[in-house]
Amino acid sequence: MAWQLSEILLATRGELLRKGKGERFTEVVTDSNKVQPGSVFVALKGERLDGHRFVGQAVRRGARCVVVHRELHRSAYGAATVVKVGDTLRALGDLGHYRRKTYGPKVLAITGSNGKTTTKEMLAAILEEAALSQKPLRGKILKTEGNFNNLVGLPLTLLRLRKTNKVAVVELGTNHRGEIKRLAEISTPDMGIITSVAAAHLEGLNSLAGVAREKGALFSGIRPGGMIAVNLDDPWVRRLGQRFTGKKITYGARGQVQVESWRSLGAKGMMLCLRVGRRRSRVRLNFLGEHNIVNAVGAAAMAYGFGASLAAIRRGLQKAKPFPMRMQLENWKNVGIINDAYNANPASMEAAIKTLASVQCRGEKTAILGDMFELGPRTRRQHLQLGKQVARAGIGRLYLLGAQAKQVRQGALRGGLPAECIVIGKDHADIANRLRSHVKPGDWLLFKGSRGMKMESALNHLKSSTA
Ligand SMILES: Nc1ncnc2c1ncn2[C@@H]1O[C@H](COP(=O)(O)OP(=O)(O)O)[C@@H](O)[C@H]1O
Ligand SMILES: [Mg+2]
Repeated sequence: MAWQLSEILLATRGELLRKGKGERFTEVVTDSNKVQPGSVFVALKGERLDGHRFVGQAVRRGARCVVVHRELHRSAYGAATVVKVGDTLRALGDLGHYRRKTYGPKVLAITGSNGKTTTKEMLAAILEEAALSQKPLRGKILKTEGNFNNLVGLPLTLLRLRKTNKVAVVELGTNHRGEIKRLAEISTPDMGIITSVAAAHLEGLNSLAGVAREKGALFSGIRPGGMIAVNLDDPWVRRLGQRFTGKKITYGARGQVQVESWRSLGAKGMMLCLRVGRRRSRVRLNFLGEHNIVNAVGAAAMAYGFGASLAAIRRGLQKAKPFPMRMQLENWKNVGIINDAYNANPASMEAAIKTLASVQCRGEKTAILGDMFELGPRTRRQHLQLGKQVARAGIGRLYLLGAQAKQVRQGALRGGLPAECIVIGKDHADIANRLRSHVKPGDWLLFKGSRGMKMESALNHLKSSTA
């Protein structure tokens, strides 16, 4: 969308260091490779790279305006307009916020320790089926792509807004204190939901109370007159909800939106009986795992609070599908596979293990697990705990990879899993080789670990080596 120089100066409160040709620009970009003729290039300083080093390149590629927080040699600027700000990361957020304000879509924001992306996808799928003031919303919804949920991703998401977007469904993520507050400031949501408060990113946020405080900033940042959806089944979220004085919709066992009963359909997902207010509907979900029921009910509650009909909620939830590597269900040579290798923390590990434990199968259940990162001083204890959980869930075999594998093994032994059922692999290929001699039709496998563990690689080795 076109930007005027005056808008950039107004939004960022930046100083015009140098005025180049023209006062109209095209898209705002932060990646110099994505610069098009006429772009505004914002030089971000990342952990590894500093965008200021790429200003020259951006200008050569056609950037006509650059936003910097450090002055560079004149030669880097070429003929571009230069705006200097105190902090380019903040300026990017300000530009995203400006777009949000000028186009004025309804913004529905999602944060929480687990289930953000799934809830976001389910909510967006419902809204695609819904109407606003009797006008269908299909095609008018902007949503966060993938995991663009941080101080860079959220502004870039909002910068994709077009006049035609009536609704934006955005994901807010955090691993440092204060991030959600700023993300809420940038997006100023009309509605917000905190999916859960659990032990994730404890390194940056310290304790569960710290996590709750951080996520709670979303509720505090809701626009006046806005609404929140409150998960009554999460004690931390319930408490945060109690402090909110505006409009609320509740969900969970005693909530306005709830699941009265459900049953598993194996690799086809689940069938839910959903209650919304006094009405009921049967809904099929393409997801497995009780945690996805929580996500579906949360999405339904947000949609209902927004004004979507029960029919739209049912249709949307039936259309939503898991992403690759997030509780993705697969049937491979009659072996059931749960590929949840995208990421892991204690809560999502527990959810995945419960899911594996709950599938009905005639064969054996095996968990192939990698380390969970970012747990700080709790690392050892949480991995011991994980081993115990696996053993107690009745999972027959355990394959482990990573620096914490020994802890998990120790926990599993304590939980009663026999030593011969636990394998610590050297690498992905080794795990696959050793799995191969055991897997047979009717078995179920779960692959999971933190992103850096790339546990999908073990699955790929397994599949390719027996092809
Ligand atoms: N409500 C939930 N409670 C606990 N774990 C969950 C929940 N929803 C999802 N998970 C787990 O977290 C993983 C990531 O889900 P995702 O929706 O991408 O969450 P996020 O965006 O918050 O990281 C899933 O594959 C699953 O293992
Ligand atoms: Mg996510």
